[in-house]
Amino acid sequence: MPQKQQQVKLLCFESSCDDMSVAALEAAPGDEVPRVMSCAVQSQDDVHRKYGGIVPELASRAHLQSILPCIRKVLHESGLGIGDFDAYAATARPGLIGSLLVGHTAAKTLALIHQKPLISCHHLEGHLLSVFLNNAPAFPFLSLIVSGGHTSLYRVEDFDRFELLGQTLDDAVGEAFDKAAILLGLGFPGGPALEQLAKTGDANRYRFPEVQVPELNFSFSGLKSEFARMVQREGNHLDKAAAAAGYQQALVKHLKSQLTKALKQEGLNRVAIVGGVARNQYLRECLAELKVIGILEEVFCPPLLYCTDNAAMIGIQAFRKYLRKEFSALESDVGVTQRPKKRRRRA
Ligand code: KG4
Ligand code: ZN
Repeated sequence: MPQKQQQVKLLCFESSCDDMSVAALEAAPGDEVPRVMSCAVQSQDDVHRKYGGIVPELASRAHLQSILPCIRKVLHESGLGIGDFDAYAATARPGLIGSLLVGHTAAKTLALIHQKPLISCHHLEGHLLSVFLNNAPAFPFLSLIVSGGHTSLYRVEDFDRFELLGQTLDDAVGEAFDKAAILLGLGFPGGPALEQLAKTGDANRYRFPEVQVPELNFSFSGLKSEFARMVQREGNHLDKAAAAAGYQQALVKHLKSQLTKALKQEGLNRVAIVGGVARNQYLRECLAELKVIGILEEVFCPPLLYCTDNAAMIGIQAFRKYLRKEFSALESDVGVTQRPKKRRRRA
């Protein structure tokens, strides 16, 4: 009798920046992507808020405090023991070294103790694959990563083939949201609060310049500086809601115009929007407008919880690597590499 194939179970860690996350995932034989059994996320917003940005030293210390509670929660919710997994995975790059080391060392230790493979993952590839947590877009499609640290556009050919088409030449869009939010006194990270405030403002009261950048790249530093000048110039007369609305409109307009260019250039009509800023409803609505005018057929977004950093997205990548037997040596290190390798340009 043929031997019955087993479920594959993975325990995954994501601690590249300021969110500690642990997830348990499982897949049945033949599955293309695994199912999330449990995913715990411990945010550090309270730790960093008073500094107006992430303090790396505090981030690694907070990760050390939250990793065990996160593991316990995931084991409890999945009903599994710490040794019940077929492999242990963690983000190895890019990120803050002290933060990466916490999750990666945990995965290494568990792999060593339980004699199971270690799978090292790439944070950006995790975001790219996060769209498969609740969608099954057909390949190829475009994927726009919009987060606090990255703004990059990829052509996704397969689960492991990504071609970088363009990226920000300066700030990431999430950073642009956060910096403006601080100037408005909205705290950190201020993206969600700025979006909330913008809802009540007249987006056309203050004017922002149109961003011009070569090819399929992005640039947000000009808009950010214009916003800072405006806050200074208007002083107490500043209509904060209108400023937030106009600024958000300008940021999203730039994303939309580069995306439109990319869709035409690549001859595609499907796009995934991933990363923390993909939570922004105004961005989602503006991109949906591209459907109305026939440029886009489908827009895919991960569930809100899985837009910001999480270990479930790392689990999708880890599972694909598990299928390919792409394991890492226990001696392997964490690193700061910025992005997945640029693939060949298409003819
Ligand atoms: O993906 P993420 O958790 O971290 C990085 O990998 O960078 O993204 C965090 C970013 C922050 O800049 C935060 O302000 C932004 O995502 N963000 C938002 C919204 N929710 C989170 N920005 C605009 N609107 C939102 N609703
Ligand atoms: Zn991220």
